[in-house]
Amino acid sequence: RYVPPGFAPKIGMILGSGLSAFAEQIENPVSIPYQAIPGLQTGAVSGHASLLVLGQINGVSVVCLRGRLHKYEGVEYESIRALIHIVRHLGCSMYLTTAAVGSLREDVLPGELVMINDHINFQPGNPLVGPNDESIGPRFVSMDDAYDLGLQDAMRASAKRLGIPLHSGVYLSTLGPSFETPAEIRAFKKWGADLVGMSVVPEVILARHCGLRVAGLAVVTNLAAGMSSEKISHEGTLHYGEIGGRKMAKLIPEFIKEASNAMV
Ligand code: HPA
Repeated sequence: RYVPPGFAPKIGMILGSGLSAFAEQIENPVSIPYQAIPGLQTGAVSGHASLLVLGQINGVSVVCLRGRLHKYEGVEYESIRALIHIVRHLGCSMYLTTAAVGSLREDVLPGELVMINDHINFQPGNPLVGPNDESIGPRFVSMDDAYDLGLQDAMRASAKRLGIPLHSGVYLSTLGPSFETPAEIRAFKKWGADLVGMSVVPEVILARHCGLRVAGLAVVTNLAAGMSSEKISHEGTLHYGEIGGRKMAKLIPEFIKEASNAMV
């Protein structure tokens, strides 16, 4: 009903906290409030800037989810599922997730960008629990190649071309909304986590289930608990999110062009 005739997006993307300003870069935007979308009318969605934006970036048609749904808000997996399935339903073959994260590495500092190359699901539950719809994807989903190797190459190449330093690492997802304790962070380091956050993983599982190729890009907003004398706060997240967000705003259009050329 709202989709412009002939609109055939390739890439769906979601903008994490502090990163939603990127949506302003979308050309010919058509914005649809989440509340107007079937499956999202539960009222569980907090009102601010929750928009599905259709448009172009660097000449490539995209679907942008501006405003993420988090489990810690009390949102059910059904709502998160509805968002990912819209991306698939509109015909996208790729999904780019962006997020603000804490860094578990001393050499990866606030304001820097990290490409997500794998994850650890430390949220209780899995968004695929329940009856499986075989028309969408298989019961048992491989997570071997959750973060697509071709898209990782495309992202690295784009960052290099622009001269933007890009780390890569493993994202561990907590339920939140409390931040971690220093003891939890020490444990997560031993598990092999480089980054910690409260989102990404449910979406990526859903995206892989419906056959989307996934790329992930994180902005470090703080060193994780116990690693710095600075206290972790949502304000700090927004501050460094903005600094990293400016780099992201350059990298994403380049990546989208590179990825869409590599995909065809
Ligand atoms: N922990 C969890 N989520 C986060 C953090 C963190 O340190 N920083 C930004 N999101």
